[in-house]
Amino acid sequence: MLLTIMYQIMWIFMVATYVEGGSHKPNIIIVLADDLGYTDAGFHGGDQIPTPHIDKLAHEGIILDNYYTAMICTPSRAALLTGRHPMQLGLQHGVVAPPCPFGLALNETLLPQYLKKFGYVTHMIGKWHLGFFTQEYTPTHRGFDSHLGFWSGRTDYFSHENGVFGVGKRGAGLDFWENMTVAREYNGSYGTELFGDRAVDLIMSHNQSKPFFLYLPHQAVHAGIPPQPLKAPQEYLDRFKFIKHDGRRRYAAMLSVLDDSIGNLTAALKKSGMYENTILIFSTDNGGPADGFDGNYASNWPLRGCKYTNWEGGVRAASFIHSPLLKNPGTTSHHLMHISDWLPTIMSAIGEKLPSNIDYYGVDQWPSIQFNVSSARNEIMHNYDDGAGAIRYGDYKLVICCTENEMNGWYPEERSYIGANQKLYIHCGERNSSLPSCTSADKYCLFDLASDPCEYNNIASLMPELAERLYRKLMTFADAAQPPRNKPSDPASHPSKHNGHWTDWLDKHPVL
Ligand SMILES: *[C@@H]1O[C@H](CO)[C@@H](O)[C@H](O)[C@H]1NC(C)=O
Ligand SMILES: *[C@@H]1O[C@H](CO)[C@@H](O)[C@H](O)[C@H]1NC(C)=O
Ligand SMILES: *[C@@H]1O[C@H](CO)[C@@H](O)[C@H](O)[C@H]1NC(C)=O
Ligand SMILES: *[C@@H]1O[C@H](CO)[C@@H](O)[C@H](O)[C@H]1NC(C)=O
Ligand SMILES: *[C@@H]1O[C@H](CO)[C@@H](O)[C@H](O)[C@H]1NC(C)=O
Ligand SMILES: *[C@@H]1O[C@H](CO)[C@@H](O)[C@H](O)[C@H]1NC(C)=O
Ligand SMILES: *[C@@H]1O[C@H](CO)[C@@H](O)[C@H](O)[C@H]1NC(C)=O
Repeated sequence: MLLTIMYQIMWIFMVATYVEGGSHKPNIIIVLADDLGYTDAGFHGGDQIPTPHIDKLAHEGIILDNYYTAMICTPSRAALLTGRHPMQLGLQHGVVAPPCPFGLALNETLLPQYLKKFGYVTHMIGKWHLGFFTQEYTPTHRGFDSHLGFWSGRTDYFSHENGVFGVGKRGAGLDFWENMTVAREYNGSYGTELFGDRAVDLIMSHNQSKPFFLYLPHQAVHAGIPPQPLKAPQEYLDRFKFIKHDGRRRYAAMLSVLDDSIGNLTAALKKSGMYENTILIFSTDNGGPADGFDGNYASNWPLRGCKYTNWEGGVRAASFIHSPLLKNPGTTSHHLMHISDWLPTIMSAIGEKLPSNIDYYGVDQWPSIQFNVSSARNEIMHNYDDGAGAIRYGDYKLVICCTENEMNGWYPEERSYIGANQKLYIHCGERNSSLPSCTSADKYCLFDLASDPCEYNNIASLMPELAERLYRKLMTFADAAQPPRNKPSDPASHPSKHNGHWTDWLDKHPVL
């Protein structure tokens, strides 16, 4: 404790010296990949899809090896931007579907709102997914000076339409915005390139008398909409002819564009002179959708489960932090960390305090990242919803298994389209066939992730007291949760009623 305080004082002193040096607070860039699998990028052992630009940043930064997100988009994004737990926000149940009139509650304060107070210019490029039925829920009303991108959870990569029946079909509508204006002129431009180019423009035109914040939640590598959800420019598809599986080849191409765009971003930071004073955070929003789940072909192998599950494959996530300001570059951090920790961690890194009257779930991990002191947490409430959930405590994880349609195995089951070296990064333990499996008939299951990161062996029967204690902890947290804010679909939202696009349909004067 004393040590932590000392380190914090040291850090505040160091921040103060930048200011003295005529510079200012560090620039903050958050690159949020969408649906990236745990072992797809090279820095996590993937050897099938080259990601040289991402890998370079990861290896020169600090790889966060024990880092967790929520299992799906909306709760992860909400936790990232508020420092609060999705269960405290009523966002623990599914995502915001386009016709559903709910979103991240308006009484919550978002990261860009805090940063604006400390003098930052705040930009967002990419996917929102925190509600848009009235305009006060949308990015430029929640602390962002500018936004280019979409409000819903997925769009076609070229036409930027969303609709369950597909591009140009009944119910589909454009979902693309430049601040509060419908942006039709980008029809035909590939999302990942468009967002990457805009990031470069913002960096190159930034007036460096103010610190810069960019939240860049990329579209990639989430699936788009039918009839072909997995799209990439032809030159990228051509790079991966050696992958025979069509879905996996397309996924590889999509990830490759993302990697190139991050190369462009890094080059712009260096060219503009902003690089030395920038902290770049890379994270995915949740585990990869594998084996066709959600129309996609990511890999979390050999972790169990995938996106939309409380298994490690759903919540253990690829992430790193990169900055010339780091004290231990080129290392791996094993500190237990949750996506909600970024908000307090960023505040600490810029030498500012959070208000004391808000119950943050996130904790300040800056001392652990910067000075390798022990993690500020040893516990994570993964989620509890619809009778399924999980809690992490030290090396142990209690799982209340599982919701219907959940992917409970290890994917992809047919591994022929996955690179051979992926297992190197995660060393699974042995399977103990004398232990029971884990099914929804069990009250709960327990795993020791230190010896069994792949969740093979349910040891609940061997440690009944610990299991029961963790179960009660999770139930206590669940009892205090805000009830889900979800609302049913509203037919009044349909694009056919709004000039062919999605909009803030419950406003008195929606954007038409
Ligand atoms: C916002 O209001 C909800 C109740 O509607 C409450 O549960 C939540 O804690 C409030 N958020 C903050 C930051 O006070
Ligand atoms: C969006 O808002 C930003 C900040 O106010 C402004 O610089 C930019 O020109 C706006 N873009 C459009 C298309 O209005
Ligand atoms: C995009 O452009 C294509 C080709 O010009 C056109 O058919 C389609 O309707 C446009 N889509 C949108 C959403 O404007
Ligand atoms: C990278 O920048 C170049 C030069 O501006 C551009 O042509 C290319 O499309 C960019 N690549 C990506 C993936 O954004
Ligand atoms: C940058 O902003 C400062 C302060 O507002 C202003 O004095 C300066 O002229 C600006 N520089 C450029 C190149 O616009
Ligand atoms: C951080 O501390 C751990 C545990 O003491 C140690 O194993 C690791 O090497 C340290 N990392 C660095 C970068 O010093
Ligand atoms: C396998 O589990 C049983 C309990 O069912 C235990 O007695 C045994 O030691 C375990 N074997 C290994 C190799 O851990």
